[in-house]
Amino acid sequence: MKNILVAVAWPYANADIHVGNVTGSYLPADVFARYHRLKGNRVLMVSGTDSHGTPITVRADAENTTPEEIYKRYHSRFIDLFQKTGLTYDLFTSTHTENHFQVAQDLFRALQANGFLYREKQSVMYSEKEKRFLPDRYVEGECYICHFPNARGDQCDQCGNLLDATQLIHPRSRTDGSTPIVRETEHFFLDLAKLSPALIQFLSSGKEHWRPNVVRFARNMIEEGLHGRPITRDLDWGIPLPESGWEEKRLYVWFEAVIGYLSASLEWAKSHGMPEAWKDWWYDPQALTYYFIGKDNIPFHAVIWPAQLIGASRLYVGEKDGTLNLPTDVPSNEFMNLEGKKISGSRNWAVWGLDAVERYGPDPVRYYLTVNMPESRDTDWDWGDFLRRNNDELVATWGNLANRVLTFSYRNWDGRVPDPGELRTEDNELLAKADQAFGAVGGLYEAVQLRAALGEAMALAGEANRYLDQQAPWFQIKADPAAAAKTIFTGLRVIDSLKTLLAPVIPFSAEVLHTGFGHHGRMFGTQQIEERSDSLGSRPVLTYDSAGAAGKWEPSRLAAGQPLAEPKPLFRKLLPEIVDQERARLGTPPA
Ligand code: MF3
Ligand code: ZN
Repeated sequence: MKNILVAVAWPYANADIHVGNVTGSYLPADVFARYHRLKGNRVLMVSGTDSHGTPITVRADAENTTPEEIYKRYHSRFIDLFQKTGLTYDLFTSTHTENHFQVAQDLFRALQANGFLYREKQSVMYSEKEKRFLPDRYVEGECYICHFPNARGDQCDQCGNLLDATQLIHPRSRTDGSTPIVRETEHFFLDLAKLSPALIQFLSSGKEHWRPNVVRFARNMIEEGLHGRPITRDLDWGIPLPESGWEEKRLYVWFEAVIGYLSASLEWAKSHGMPEAWKDWWYDPQALTYYFIGKDNIPFHAVIWPAQLIGASRLYVGEKDGTLNLPTDVPSNEFMNLEGKKISGSRNWAVWGLDAVERYGPDPVRYYLTVNMPESRDTDWDWGDFLRRNNDELVATWGNLANRVLTFSYRNWDGRVPDPGELRTEDNELLAKADQAFGAVGGLYEAVQLRAALGEAMALAGEANRYLDQQAPWFQIKADPAAAAKTIFTGLRVIDSLKTLLAPVIPFSAEVLHTGFGHHGRMFGTQQIEERSDSLGSRPVLTYDSAGAAGKWEPSRLAAGQPLAEPKPLFRKLLPEIVDQERARLGTPPA
């Protein structure tokens, strides 16, 4: 049994979540977590709402409301979506909690005590009109690296590089379009130059299993030479510094949000009455830690977060010689487009997660997003393709296979698994393939090649269909009932195995099948929404309770005579009309 931390990107509380975000990091994390739970590993899957920083304040300014109102609105909607999609976070919390403030400040202190912070005057954009600094997203302009005309002050959406807003070409204020001036202000810096040797060591070995673009990006950043980065901002929304005289400033959102992985683990441990349990994932050198993110997050997770962990180790919470675990892998995904164009939430060129899940149910959406996951290149959500894959693959290849065998068995053997007597060669061959699939498909889930894992499992469903067409138990039952019993028994076992192989991707229908086969207990635990409060206010959190979870990553052992439940279709065939209906709901695509 291994301890596995599944760390999932924290969505900014400034917009609803679309399918591109879901397939980019939240869904792959859940598929991976569910696989490991079936394997019997001890999974801790954590994340929360990224509630601070200019993404939230810019939105609040635009709507003439408070950042807190914006944060609360989107946080609740994230929780609703994640529950409905079946994303089994052990804890989905937020960065706006007393616990997180505390841990972020502790980490700041640890970095400071270990000598990895320094203070320096910095030139920052300033609005003379508004009489205030314009950090990060308050400024836009032309990227000085790739010349994208609408780069944000903190990062360029086109080339992915982190930017210094004062170097933007033709900078403009996001609030009123005016040209900002440059002014000096003092900030704390993370001494990345000093951390560079340790980072080089971290990135230079044992990264063969990392996706090549992630390693390349990270090594490139280091080779170009790392300089100190400011980790504080002139803002009033966010986490105060644990330092007197600095009351007007806040911790930089990217400095503290990544600390959320750690603080959420602590919150989880405390809420389970085992306040030290988080260490099983953060200090146990055998623990594995995976970070599921979109490609724009690579610099923060593959370079800066490891630097923070290295720099804060030893002094953090008094573990004298403890080293916080560095990422085992950062399986970053590329982007998903929509109907051939880049997704744009503000133009409503997007498929919203809640709409998709409410209209089509979680499993069809999870299936399509996994089959089409942008693991190694950008992919495309296309409504015609969604319809085809739902109808031809999920319904025809898998749903109908399960349904016709279960229905036939239920009707002809009194609602029980038939007794096959001695199995034939062809039966044993198919069953052997199903057994082997646990190794092959499992290896792919483990390597975070989720598309390929799903592809292998569906290939087995294809084999099972061919076997049934060949055996044709619907004719066998008249000519040779004993042969029909062997065929149906074999079919049921393969379907029962396939249910497990597919469960990480389509858990809701797997659970229905699991119960239908008369197995005891559920495969997975259950999700809950709980209200938690502290001095910063009250908020819902999403949790996962593994009690009663009995699913195991192993071939079916279904026995003759086991009672079956009356089967119902698992999925529904979609009408071609939905394609035009859905396309009509879209706004105007970006140029
Ligand atoms: N909020 C960031 C984004 O949406 C992701 C933050 S991941 C974190 O791009 F770990 F830093 F929180
Ligand atoms: Zn650029």
